[in-house]
Amino acid sequence: MHVPTVIERKRDGAELSPNEIGALIDGFTRGEIPAYQMSAWAMAVFFRGMTPDETEALTKAMLQSGRTLRYPEGSPPKVDKHSTGGIGDKVSLVLAPLLACDEVWVPMISGRGLGITGGTLDKLESIPGFCVDLEEARALRQLENIGLFMIGQTADICPADKALYALRDVTGTVPSSPLIIASILSKKLAENLDRLVLDVKFGSGAFMKTREEAAGLAHGMKTIGERMGVRISHRLSPMEEPLGKTVGNALEVAEAVATLRGRGPNDLETLILDLAAEVANATRDQLARWLHSGAAWEKFIALTEAQGGDAGALEKITEHHRAPFVRPFLASHSGRVARMDAGTLGRAALLLGAGRARTEDTIDPAVGFSGIKKVGAEVAPNEPLLFVHARREADLAAALSMLGKGVAIA
Ligand code: URA
Repeated sequence: MHVPTVIERKRDGAELSPNEIGALIDGFTRGEIPAYQMSAWAMAVFFRGMTPDETEALTKAMLQSGRTLRYPEGSPPKVDKHSTGGIGDKVSLVLAPLLACDEVWVPMISGRGLGITGGTLDKLESIPGFCVDLEEARALRQLENIGLFMIGQTADICPADKALYALRDVTGTVPSSPLIIASILSKKLAENLDRLVLDVKFGSGAFMKTREEAAGLAHGMKTIGERMGVRISHRLSPMEEPLGKTVGNALEVAEAVATLRGRGPNDLETLILDLAAEVANATRDQLARWLHSGAAWEKFIALTEAQGGDAGALEKITEHHRAPFVRPFLASHSGRVARMDAGTLGRAALLLGAGRARTEDTIDPAVGFSGIKKVGAEVAPNEPLLFVHARREADLAAALSMLGKGVAIA
């Protein structure tokens, strides 16, 4: 294959064949096609887009660049969820053990946070001892024993996506629908799922800013996923204010624990039950009973122990990770909370050290926000609208000043 010709054809709006796309991804993964050619091709895709056939071929090629999970004959349906990412999104921590109460397996492979949205792996790692790097054989044994695992992407799952994403990240080619669809789906398809539910978020704290963009992405993922044999459903969920009442890694684990004990905030619990009902065998009512009876909490304890974590630390996680400076952000006058802007809180959380600006950054599990008031809540003068948890006094001051631009009382 003559790579410059393939790049030129895409640049000029032609449809590439599955063979051309397969050869491109294969050559790139083997190190035979250099980054400058791959970047030029990604930019051509950014401007010209891809047909569903091309997107399917790209997804397949990325999936086939690595291994897929294999399960024993006759094992239960495999189900999972993917979220496009939001502020305070701790859904997976509750949803995975809840689904595992059902007659399904939950082989959840998650990512780390990059940018303003936190990652499930970072949250899990705030639990002392919790290991997210399991050998495949151990992960499969865990599925047989407790019905779920929560791990990170291994080196042999979709290596092409890993390499291509790293290029896209530095060449302005992340926000391309076909590239996003192939990137997300290839990783989820490597789990060899029967059913997948997508939580596609839109708003100031999400990747997609409008409901229309989110609906377009969901439709594209559903089309390609179903062509490849996975039943895909989705929810479009607003991300104008954070989900739940906490943002930050250990703080979000504490809120997930409260939710697993039946004391979660309404918006979080509703979203979890809505998403779970899309892929479970059980009804939504049964799922709610598992959440309120302690069954899902027992599963989370079993998961924590199976992955080397200290289950005894779960209910005192915020004592284990305690930020030295905790200060309220106070209401200046009485009224209703009119704005608790997710994007602003996400950027302030990043500034505190709760997220990563670059892949190699380390995160601080203790910092973030708690007690976040929901939009519509009535507040009195000097009532806390949220609490800031900071490692340094200077970070605290910077976060408080940033919050002033994203929080409003009407
Ligand atoms: N998340 C991914 O895994 N890939 C993308 O391309 C965008 C978001």
